[in-house]
Amino acid sequence: MKQPKKILVIGELNVDILLNGIDGFPQMGKEILADSMNVVLGSSSAIFAANAAALGASVSFCGKVGNDAYGELCVRTLKNMGVQTDWISISAEKNTGATLILNYDQDRANITYCGAMVDFTQTDIPWDHIADFDHVHLSNFFVQEGIRKDILEIFKKLKEYGITTSLDTQWDVLERWDFDYKSCLPYVDFFLPNESELLALTGFDSIEKAITEIQDFTNYLALKMGNEGSWGIYNKEILKTDAFSPETFVDAIGAGDSYNAGFVTHFLNTQNFKESLINGNLMGAVNTTATGGTQAFSSQKSLHQILNKLKTARKNEQYEID
Ligand SMILES: Nc1ncnc2c1ncn2[C@@H]1O[C@H](COP(=O)(O)OP(=O)(O)OP(=O)(O)O)[C@@H](O)[C@H]1O
Ligand SMILES: [Mg+2]
Repeated sequence: MKQPKKILVIGELNVDILLNGIDGFPQMGKEILADSMNVVLGSSSAIFAANAAALGASVSFCGKVGNDAYGELCVRTLKNMGVQTDWISISAEKNTGATLILNYDQDRANITYCGAMVDFTQTDIPWDHIADFDHVHLSNFFVQEGIRKDILEIFKKLKEYGITTSLDTQWDVLERWDFDYKSCLPYVDFFLPNESELLALTGFDSIEKAITEIQDFTNYLALKMGNEGSWGIYNKEILKTDAFSPETFVDAIGAGDSYNAGFVTHFLNTQNFKESLINGNLMGAVNTTATGGTQAFSSQKSLHQILNKLKTARKNEQYEID
């Protein structure tokens, strides 16, 4: 039997505090009410880890939480979803990070406290065990102060161990886009931005110009285009793949991370770029059928039901995935 690929996720770990049914927008000196509140596992890296594990990969997480109930919730939820948590350390000084999400139908207003993830540095990475892994995924490094400055060194070192790598920068909340992509991307096997992130990073206002600029430095580039699917760029060729159309759309929170999980796990098993783009689209669409980033992946039974529905709807088209 084929062994599942071993993936290490290096990244941020925090909770999302979701407020729904909010009565207007908050104003200084006043108070408004929300109908419901949920505290769930948040963060791009954690959604990737949980969903890659649901898709059959062997996944370990390396990150930092505070010594508090939210930290326990993060670790417990990851464990319940089949992710190894041995490399998650606890900050002595800072609380677990949290994002307060005010949800207004199609739109959201977020406030993030980075917390313990700021104390996470490259010395927390299990370098002595790194050769045990096939692949390392890193996400959202703009909010990880302790990792950001060493990003080039980390990717260089990983390649010295012969490990494949993937990177999703996510949006830079400080909008400084301080990332030397020309030096770093040659060490990244799969670069996974969305359209607006690629434009902001390169400073171009057209996606074609941004691709022309970045493709000299990337290996495989999977560009996420929301409900228009994704574009694959390799060897200066652009491969456009369509999104799937779920019957029910709930929200797109985490769709990009589910896409990453679908793309990376499929590529590691098949080395087929086009199929991996399609599998990314499929998992992104699955993500949108339930609230938040991991809900649609939390039971194998319902995951397979959704997958079958989405694939059946596309049965007249040519696509080859498991
Ligand atoms: N409304 C949708 N319907 C169908 N598929 C979708 C939809 N939204 C997203 N997807 C799929 O999920 C993929 C990733 O979504 P998106 O482009 O929103 O990533 P992102 O902007 O990185 O998301 P995130 O906010 O999670 O980081 C898309 O490429 C697409 O295949
Ligand atoms: Mg994203």
